[in-house]
Amino acid sequence: MRYIVFLFIAAFLISCSTESTSPFFEVDSDGSLKLSSPDGDNTITFLLDDGIPYYAVDRGEMAIITNSRLGFELQDMEDLKDGFVIESYNFNQHDETWEQVWGEKQLIRDHHNEMRIHLKEEFGLERDLFIVFRAFDDGIGFRYEFPDQPNLQEFNIVDEFTEFTLTADHKAWWIGAYQWNRYEYLTRTSYVSEIDTVITPLTMRTDEGLYLSFHEAALVDYSTMTLERTDGLTLYSNIQPWHDGVRVRAKTPFVTPWRTLQIAENPGDLITSYLILNLNEPNKIEDTSWIEPAKYVGIWWEMHLDKSTWGSGERHGATTENAKRYIDFAAEHGIPHVLVEGWNIGWDGEWYADGVVFDFTEPYPDFDLHGVAQYALDKGVRLMGHHETSASVEHYESQMHEAYQLYEDLGVRAVKTGYVGHGQEIFWTDEDGNRNYEWHHGQHMVRHHQKVVELAAQHKILLNVHEGVKDTGLRRTWPNLMTREVARGQEYNAWGWGEEGVWDGNGNPPNHVLLLPFTRNLSGPFDYTPGIVDLLFEEYRPEHRVNHTLAKELALYVVIYSPLHMAADLPQNYKERLDAFQFIKDVPTDWYDTKVLHASVGEYVTIVRKDRNSNDWYLGSITDEEAREFSILLDFLDEGVSYTAQIYRDSDDADWVSNPYGFVVEEVDVKAGDEFLIKLAPGGGMAVRFMAVE
Ligand code: NOJ
Repeated sequence: MRYIVFLFIAAFLISCSTESTSPFFEVDSDGSLKLSSPDGDNTITFLLDDGIPYYAVDRGEMAIITNSRLGFELQDMEDLKDGFVIESYNFNQHDETWEQVWGEKQLIRDHHNEMRIHLKEEFGLERDLFIVFRAFDDGIGFRYEFPDQPNLQEFNIVDEFTEFTLTADHKAWWIGAYQWNRYEYLTRTSYVSEIDTVITPLTMRTDEGLYLSFHEAALVDYSTMTLERTDGLTLYSNIQPWHDGVRVRAKTPFVTPWRTLQIAENPGDLITSYLILNLNEPNKIEDTSWIEPAKYVGIWWEMHLDKSTWGSGERHGATTENAKRYIDFAAEHGIPHVLVEGWNIGWDGEWYADGVVFDFTEPYPDFDLHGVAQYALDKGVRLMGHHETSASVEHYESQMHEAYQLYEDLGVRAVKTGYVGHGQEIFWTDEDGNRNYEWHHGQHMVRHHQKVVELAAQHKILLNVHEGVKDTGLRRTWPNLMTREVARGQEYNAWGWGEEGVWDGNGNPPNHVLLLPFTRNLSGPFDYTPGIVDLLFEEYRPEHRVNHTLAKELALYVVIYSPLHMAADLPQNYKERLDAFQFIKDVPTDWYDTKVLHASVGEYVTIVRKDRNSNDWYLGSITDEEAREFSILLDFLDEGVSYTAQIYRDSDDADWVSNPYGFVVEEVDVKAGDEFLIKLAPGGGMAVRFMAVE
C-alpha cells in the first residue's frame, strides 16, 4: 500500500535572553523551563537548584513526578551532578507520520515538543552535559547527551542519579529485578511503597484512575535500567552493573537511552501508545523486501512436553524424518517457517550449565541439515534456525559469523536465539585469563545483542530472541529484530511452577496473559508461542496444563502482538482440531491498525486489529477466572463493507477448570455499527475474524 508521509518540523531557537514565543515552552520567573505536550496536558519542568538539575512532570493540574534529581556519579573523576549553569536551551516542535516496516499499526504519528538544555559546570572541569526532554500527548521522555569535549572523553558511570519521585502511593504491577531467572516471573501487584527494585515496564494506577508506565527507549549501548525504591515514593534508576561495579562504560560523544513515562486515561491507551517507538531512530535497513512477518511451527513443544529430547538418542526430536513431517505440515497449511531445536551438537548432558558444548554449524548425524533445508525450500517453506548459547556468549561470538553464513546459504530467513542461564552468569575472559561474570541485562549483553542484530541483518536474517534484554523499541531501527521472549511464556505451562504469594498452581495462572498486555508487552512484541489446542496434554505431563479455555488460547494471537507468531502445538493435535486451527492459519501477524475496545489490568481486555493486507478485522477478547459479557458496537469495521464474522467462542458451559474444551465455531453476517455480544467463560476468551465480503 502506498503511504503518505506528513512531516512538519518547526524549530524555534529561544535563547536565554528572549521571551518565549510558543504556548508550549515557558521560562518562569525563577528560571525554570517548562515544556508541554501538543495537547497541553503533560508538562515537564526543569530547574537548577543551587546548580543541581531537577525535573518534574504534571498532567493538567495534577503533579505526577515532583522535583526529581538528574545527574551522574563517575569513576575516578568529578561527578556530573552539580555546579551547573544553564548555558543555553532551545525548543522544537515535531509532527511526523512515519511508516513501520511491520507492526501493530502501519502509520505512526510522532507529535511532540522538545526542549534541549545545555548545562555547563560553572567551575572546575567546565564540562558540558545536555538534557533533552520530549513531551508527547501520551507521556514524556528524556535523555542525557555527552558531547565530545576535552575534559570528558572515555569515562565510566558508576551511578545514574535519575529519580522519579511519585506524588502518591499508587497501585503497581511489577516483577523484581536481579533475580536468577531473569525476566521470567509472574507479575506481582502491590502499592509502590511495598516494592524494592523492579524491572521495567513498571505500570501503575493512580487513585484518580490515571495509568502510568515507566520504561526506557533506544537502549543501544548502556545497561538496562531497573527502578529501586530508595525512600518513600522515590524510584531511582538503578542501572545494572558490570562485574566490577561500573554501570556503564562510555566514550563521548555519547547518549543514554530515553527514560520514558507513558501516561494514559485508561489502560487500553497504554497499549496503543507508540511513544517508545517514536523515541527510537528510524530504520537503518535500506532493502526491507526480505523482512516478512509470518507464522511458524516447529520441533519445540514436543521437547517441552518431554515427548522427545533436544539431545541425541532414541527420543531425539530433531531427526531428518521428524523435520520433514513438520515441513509437510507447514507446506500443507501455508505456514512459512519450521523451527528445529536440538539439531546441532551440544545438547547431550547439562547443556544449560555451560554453552561451550554447542557447535553452531555441526548437525547431529541423524539430522541432514542441508537435505532438510532443501526439502523445505522445495516445498515453499524455510527452516527457522536455532542457536541456544546457554549464555556462553564468548563461545557463541567465536562461531556466529560462520553460523549466520551457513544459515544464509541454506535459505534460512529467521533464527531463534537463546541465552538460558542464571541472571549473572555471562562471562568474558580478560587478558589475564580471568572469567568476568556479567548480568544478562548489563551493557556487555546489550552490546552483544547489537552485534548479533547487525550481523543477522547482513545475512538477511530475522531474529527471535529468548532470554535476551527487554525490548526498548529497537525494532524501529533494526526491523529484522522481530520478536523476543524475555518473559514467562507458554513453555511454563508444560513444566513450570507457581510462585509463592502469586499462584500456587503449576504453569501460568489464568490472569497471566491479562497482565502481560499492560506490562511486558508495552515494551514490544512477545514470542509467547500460543496455539496449544491439546490444553491438558495428559499423555505427557498430566500434572500440568494450559490454564484457560481453547477459545482464549486462540484469542492470544490477537491480544499478544508478535510479527513472528508460533503455532506451537504438535501437528497431530492440529489435525484433530482443524476447527480451531483454522483461526491460527487465518490470523495475520502484521497489522494496519490496532484498537483496544476495553481493558482492565489483570482482568479483561478486548483488542481489534485490521489486517495490513486486506479489509479483514480480527478480535481477541480474554478474561481472568471470572466470566464476563460485553455488548460492543462494531464501529471499528469499515463503513460500506459487509463482513462475515467467523466466531471462535467459549460454549455456554465452558469453564477453564471443568470444561476447557467447551468451544463453538459459528458465523454471522455483520456490518459497521452493529451490536455484537462477547461472552467469555471463566478463564475464557473469544477470537473473531471479521472477513470482508468482496
Ligand atoms: C528456553 C527457550 O525459551 C525455549 O523456547 C527453548 O526451547 C529452550 N530454551 C531451549 O533453547
